[in-house]
Amino acid sequence: MKKTFIADFEDAARPERFLPLRITPLMPGFGAMVDGVDLSRALSSEAQARLRAAWLQFGVIFLRGQKRLSPDRHRELAAIFGAPDAGSHMVEKGAGVDLLITDEGKPPVANTWHSDNTNLEHPSLGTFIQIQDCPPVGGNTMWSSAQRAYEFLSPNMKACLVGLTAVHYWNTRGYREQTHLAARLDAEFLDRVRDYPPVEHPVVLTHPMTGRKSIYVNETYTKFIKGLHVYESRCLMDFLASWIRMPEFCLTHHWQENDIAVWDNFTMQHYALADYSAFRVNQRVTFAVEGQAPQAAAGGAPADAVMA
Ligand SMILES: [Fe+2]
Repeated sequence: MKKTFIADFEDAARPERFLPLRITPLMPGFGAMVDGVDLSRALSSEAQARLRAAWLQFGVIFLRGQKRLSPDRHRELAAIFGAPDAGSHMVEKGAGVDLLITDEGKPPVANTWHSDNTNLEHPSLGTFIQIQDCPPVGGNTMWSSAQRAYEFLSPNMKACLVGLTAVHYWNTRGYREQTHLAARLDAEFLDRVRDYPPVEHPVVLTHPMTGRKSIYVNETYTKFIKGLHVYESRCLMDFLASWIRMPEFCLTHHWQENDIAVWDNFTMQHYALADYSAFRVNQRVTFAVEGQAPQAAAGGAPADAVMA
């Protein structure tokens, strides 16, 4: 009998598979808290393999009670999952890491749903962050499983989306209203925007490491879907933006100091709540896996496209 996605996931997500890591699943189908590992110490190859397996299986994993990571250690740990990449050209850099620092003078702005760096030709497959300082309340982050969101689409909608291509790019729309960023809108900044022209990615990707399909359209970077009337494109993108917000596909992480999250940008989208103004430090490394680009899902109707 053909296994369902959920039964298949539950099989693969059995916590004993990941021992000696202790896994606490957070939502049906995605998200897990990982205990039983101290990232400040050398990790056995077995522990590293389990971490990679958990990251791919759950889409986003969290580790709590860790020590503050130096930039060098942060990059070493990210290399368990993939090769640290250049990261976003739009964020501040510290010794080999991205530093996203906010406070009263520079409040948060990244409160739109996205996967990291889909405006690049080679978008980051994964992201590894540590929130090293956080507000006493607020500043939490939401994730949505775009893989699970795809699975729950009707067969007819899947058939409509598979094979389509979307155009992604970064622009300054929205940033001009942020006075603290106005100083960045200088010629050099705008040159950097021009250095990164529009790129194309599949609307539904097949994950290069798991073979699973996910929605790969996000409201931050995706501007339109090719081959459609502009109204059709807008309508489909509005639908997908609202679909991935369904509570069944979302989780919220309430940060404690030095919590770590590692996620898969090909299966997850995220949203940083801009509901605070206190000091917050997000140290981030994005990473790629060589040759693992978002692949277009096979065209035509999926095998399960016939309604029962
Ligand atoms: Fe992000």
